[in-house]
Amino acid sequence: MNSFKVAVLGDVGVGKSSILLRFIANKFSPYHNSTVGAAYYVKEFHINGDSNKLYIWDTAGQEKYRSLVPMYYKNGNAIIIVYDLINYASYERAKIWFNEVIKYHDNSNANGYPIVYLVGNKLDLIMNDQKLRKVSSDVLMEFAKVNNLSIFEVSAKTGQNVTELFSVINGKLRELYQTNRLKNKNTTSSVIDIMTVKSSDKKGFCCY
Ligand code: GTP
Ligand code: MG
Repeated sequence: MNSFKVAVLGDVGVGKSSILLRFIANKFSPYHNSTVGAAYYVKEFHINGDSNKLYIWDTAGQEKYRSLVPMYYKNGNAIIIVYDLINYASYERAKIWFNEVIKYHDNSNANGYPIVYLVGNKLDLIMNDQKLRKVSSDVLMEFAKVNNLSIFEVSAKTGQNVTELFSVINGKLRELYQTNRLKNKNTTSSVIDIMTVKSSDKKGFCCY
């Protein structure tokens, strides 16, 4: 059994928790229960008789919690940076997070980068009206190409592309693990480190 750590970052209200609620419990809530501190989920993947665990950290988008977020992206094997497809400011915030993540990994002794996914959420809102889209596909593709990161568009509301996103991430992490190219290869012990910090912090989290 391998364990991988995933951190989910992004501005307040972009739908980080909703994406995870859809992925873990196949549910959606129209209400915004802003995350306090961080939340934590575990999901097991079975592939060809083999299993993996994803330890997923859902960070809080509110500004007052920003100083906590590095604790999660520093240890992540995969980082998902979410923005809202109809909110340009949230895309700008996503780029700031991306630059911060890269800067940290450039300046640290970490052996390699985590894999980073830039995820546009609320796809359902633009399906019938592309004019609502605030970031053009060309701009996105250029940003992804220049920065060597993968892009995805999902809807937590309808579930579109949500499982696919995590399947792709899981597959990529397995591949990196099997070819010895995974950052923080000793994933299990680091997971425990983070969990210990979290539970003693008492910042509030929930588990599935
Ligand atoms: P913080 O925890 O405050 O950082 O926010 P968050 O990023 O976790 O956002 P959350 O998942 O709480 O969702 C914010 C609001 O957006 C809620 O009212 C959700 O119902 C709504 N929402 C989330 N995902 C979608 C989506 O795919 N489509 C639509 N239409 N609304 C969504
Ligand atoms: Mg949340």
